[in-house]
Amino acid sequence: ATTPGAVHHTRPVGPPNYAALFETLTAVRKTRLPPSQALTLAEKILYSHLTPTTPAAHTPIRRGDGYLKLSPDRVAMQDASAQMALLQFMLAKRPTTAVPTSIHCDHLIPAAHSADADVADSKNANAEIYDFLQHAARKYGIAFWPPGAGIIHQIVLENYAAPGTLMLGTDSHTPNAGGLGMLAIGVGGADAVDAMAGIPWELKAPSVLGIKLTGQLSGWTSPKDVILHIAGRLTVRGGTNHIIEYFGPGCETLSCTGMATICNMGAEVGATTSTFPYTQAMSAYLRATGRAAVADGADTASRAGFLSADANARYDSVIEIDLSTLEPHINGPFTPDLATPLSKFKDLVVENKWKDEIQVALIGSCTNSSYEDMRRAADLAQQAADGGLGATVSQFLVTPGSEQIRATIERDGVTATLEKASGQMLSNSCGPCIGQWKRGGSESESKSENAILSSFNRNFRSRNDGNAKTMNFLASPEIVTAMAFSGRLTFNPMTDTLPTASGREFRFKPPQPVTSLPVKGFTPGRKEYLPPPPAPRPDPSTEISVSPTSTRLQLLKPFAPWNGQEYTDVQVLGKFIGKCTTDHISAAGPWLKYKGHLENISENTLIGAHNDFTDAVNRVHDFSRGAGAAAVVGSVPEVAKRYKEAGKPWCIVASWNYGEGSAREHAALQPRYLGCGMIIAQSFARIHETNLKKQGVLPLTFVDPADYDRISLLNASSSSGIRVSTRGAVRVLNGDVVDSFEIELIVRQDGCEDIVIRVAHSLSADQIGWIRAGSALNLIAASA
Ligand code: F3S
Repeated sequence: ATTPGAVHHTRPVGPPNYAALFETLTAVRKTRLPPSQALTLAEKILYSHLTPTTPAAHTPIRRGDGYLKLSPDRVAMQDASAQMALLQFMLAKRPTTAVPTSIHCDHLIPAAHSADADVADSKNANAEIYDFLQHAARKYGIAFWPPGAGIIHQIVLENYAAPGTLMLGTDSHTPNAGGLGMLAIGVGGADAVDAMAGIPWELKAPSVLGIKLTGQLSGWTSPKDVILHIAGRLTVRGGTNHIIEYFGPGCETLSCTGMATICNMGAEVGATTSTFPYTQAMSAYLRATGRAAVADGADTASRAGFLSADANARYDSVIEIDLSTLEPHINGPFTPDLATPLSKFKDLVVENKWKDEIQVALIGSCTNSSYEDMRRAADLAQQAADGGLGATVSQFLVTPGSEQIRATIERDGVTATLEKASGQMLSNSCGPCIGQWKRGGSESESKSENAILSSFNRNFRSRNDGNAKTMNFLASPEIVTAMAFSGRLTFNPMTDTLPTASGREFRFKPPQPVTSLPVKGFTPGRKEYLPPPPAPRPDPSTEISVSPTSTRLQLLKPFAPWNGQEYTDVQVLGKFIGKCTTDHISAAGPWLKYKGHLENISENTLIGAHNDFTDAVNRVHDFSRGAGAAAVVGSVPEVAKRYKEAGKPWCIVASWNYGEGSAREHAALQPRYLGCGMIIAQSFARIHETNLKKQGVLPLTFVDPADYDRISLLNASSSSGIRVSTRGAVRVLNGDVVDSFEIELIVRQDGCEDIVIRVAHSLSADQIGWIRAGSALNLIAASA
């Protein structure tokens, strides 16, 4: 039965085929795993989605080793990444998508005036893009969620997420859906194309990190604090090649949306994804969002033991967190793993001599805009109003995650309470979270130092307002809201008081526990924000037109295949030091408008990266002009284009966790488009490394990470800089060596002895095929 007040937004999603999943898992247990091996939940979901028809179907599975070929159940794409994914899917020459797929228009809406005006402006400014996406959706039978409908991860949680299933999303915070006990994995568009084209999707068999939750959250502490604390313990690299699986009695005490928040930010520690065992809260959430049939199916699957780990399941490592003793945290600035318990934050502000001011407080986004989040924020705003505090001191912006949330909190008076406290409701979209913030005001205009506090998930430098000096701190919506009333970084709402107009001192009480689901049920909101009724079948007659003169969209041309030779005399364009995230490699903000135009967006390639050879950001030597050219220095895109025109292959050297951050495949496509053949790093972020391979760029890591320091430009006045050549790449790419992953790199510069450095590749047999073909897509197109 459907819970009263539950809504059916779209075609109701039926329950997953649990019987088939169970059958696959049983077969895998018999043939590929040691008898009676206890499994984690993550393994159960992965192994039940193994593609049965591959040659590897009978090889034993070793966790953390080798590759799994999987059949995802669903694909979701946001509008910025969907453009390139669909342009690639068009090259794959398939009549329809092989799995249910959805497009969500959320990234291209500015936060400038008011919710409705911003959506209207976006529709005007991005008409060509929305039109392209909508036509592609119609042609291939994809659900299209229009601008204003909501943020991809919230819409997926409300409509599509289902316990025990496997989904790919072209956005790094796709793991949000782990709040409903599934594996939802952020990928680049080319990976999504695999699933959409019905090709097995390959994943390096991840290790499983168990996080045991005991106790129960109370008072000021919220689910956000669980992941803020974990980010501090694991750092931005600590989850790499791991699935984070929560277990223990504490899981039963969390709301479904709270678990989604925790899974969402697992992306910040580099985890492949995060998930929770099926709980009563998930069942209730499914029923409240119109999916009683999914809940019924999941209840049955759960009783059969499919939706939680086996007793005695072994985790590769375990962290234990007692929710009862957890403190609220504030993380940042500039990196999400700089975690400080609230009680110590004041000292940190004083020590660093940060200006004691919060210019803007922002709540909501895909991470923290649940009904529960908004109700608890409103509780604090109401306390402040009752206590005589009036409006917030900081500017206060609120982003609902979906039209359903917006309409429900409006109906229940939450919006009115937030607005009375000066809260300004933004549209149901990413806005300030992805740099679409027309912030205005002197601080961002003059690029001076200032602080903002948000309940978002990511706080890389310049991400929100384009100002590299904006210190962006992350906290729960409760802490953000309470601190907005003081406007000061040193204010601790748990202990400090604030003066009221009448001279009395006001102190917040902890926010009230609230029901995580609305008592009156959700309300769907405005019709124009619902997806058009899905066509019963794709309409192949739909024309997708891309104008050759468009500055926003450009049809793709296949990349050239590997030439069968060693990589020889490849110019080192730059050696990048420090953090090099996907934001450094392919900036968002104003560049989002070129997501569908590879040539135009390539003008931002690596413009945020700091080159050791010039000790400057976006400055590299240009050795394309022969003798005496060392003095010529240009921007990365400028020089890379000259190398491309001169037919000169180039590569870059990078530090740890190169490409961390988002699933942005442009960060791989653009260097490839400009002629980059390989990238040598101390390590790579998982999604980015796969993205590079998919686009035919060879990612190599230093066997001895200290060799990174041996590549330095000793002779800056030379006419040819540093060149590298491989020895052994041909044998690897010809498949002649399967048990060694090492290649030699000969590093050469004029006037210096050659250096030989050992580097390693992580290519599977299939991935070798991608490099040989020039890209994974070239292979798919060849099979059409
Ligand atoms: Fe949107 Fe991603 Fe933020 S989905 S709300 S930009 S984390």
